[in-house]
Amino acid sequence: MEPLNSVIATGAKRFAYGATQAARVLWYTGHYMAGRRMVGPLTEPGEAPYADEFGPLDRVRLKTAFREIFKTDWKNIEAGRYKLPAEMRQPPSPLKLWRQSRDYLRDARKVARRKHQRGHSEVLTPARQEKYPRYFLQNFHYQTDGWMTAGSADRYDMQVETLFTGSAGAMRRQALPAIRKALAGEDIATARLLDLGCGAGRFLAEVKENWPALDATALDLSPAYLGKARTNLGRWKDITYVEANAEATGLPDASFDVITAIYLFHELPPAVRKIVAKEISRLLKPGGTLVQVDTIQYGDEPGFDILLENFPRGFHEPYYDSYCRAELKDLFADAGVIHADETIAFLSKISVFRK
Ligand SMILES: C[S@@+](CC[C@H](N)C(=O)[O-])C[C@H]1O[C@@H](n2cnc3c(N)ncnc32)[C@H](O)[C@@H]1O
Repeated sequence: MEPLNSVIATGAKRFAYGATQAARVLWYTGHYMAGRRMVGPLTEPGEAPYADEFGPLDRVRLKTAFREIFKTDWKNIEAGRYKLPAEMRQPPSPLKLWRQSRDYLRDARKVARRKHQRGHSEVLTPARQEKYPRYFLQNFHYQTDGWMTAGSADRYDMQVETLFTGSAGAMRRQALPAIRKALAGEDIATARLLDLGCGAGRFLAEVKENWPALDATALDLSPAYLGKARTNLGRWKDITYVEANAEATGLPDASFDVITAIYLFHELPPAVRKIVAKEISRLLKPGGTLVQVDTIQYGDEPGFDILLENFPRGFHEPYYDSYCRAELKDLFADAGVIHADETIAFLSKISVFRK
């Protein structure tokens, strides 16, 4: 039988987890609703009202799946598959929360203006076109400054959590059990992991928290986002930062045991996805693992298909629809990386592939 003090400690942790996640859901849902109000109707005058088009959405299943992601997250923590999340290890100060909120709400007005003017190419300048591919130079989801500035990188985590009403962290963490499985039997002191399109580095922070000795590389094409990742990951001195295109990283062949790509592929045009899949295959050691996390696709949760259909109508996401229809198994098999497993985590899917 489990000793009483251990039962009490687990109960206290579960309570703290529940209270933290409930507070986060309230906080981000409030910002989501305020943001939606500022953006206004997502369709132009004369078009069918957006709200009506949520008709086929299975709202009961949506609520259940939302609760399930937190239940699964807690079960994984309780089972020791990964540690308590960052928001519990280092809770943000009230001042930081206030600043994030003020910045998010101020920016939401700009996003709304851009959305109504269909302003998705503000970051496209001749100078940048010499350095970056055209598809990268867009204001994805009408975000201010695209991937180009420190301000955008500062705001990114708040925007993603708000979009998913506080569940983005829990969804991303569902990649950690797949990493644990991939690393089982490996010598952590020599194993190497690459996070492709690392963004502001939040996922890599969870990876390092769970495997501090793991040799990790953070790669992103955006200097601003890579800079933010450096700040967010500052307490780990041994991370390698690479500013490069995921299509051609310049990293050596067969140099990684695990590659992660979180919410990267839906931002890539179909032809570029094939190139990046080939680059991943080149970088993985034989037997190495790719853990790819992105949106669910059509048919994964049929009652949510209407959300996938509407998302690129409301936000500038030019490759999202084609990603939701893509055959991922074929995409990676053609590159030499074979599908091994998948898990649905609310609105995300964790797909595991082996070289
Ligand atoms: C939606 S964000 C995801 C960031 C992060 N993985 C996360 O989970 O929040 C996509 C990231 O991919 C980066 N990115 C987009 N295209 C890229 C490319 N071709 N090569 C490298 N990074 C790219 C962007 O700069 C951005 O940081």
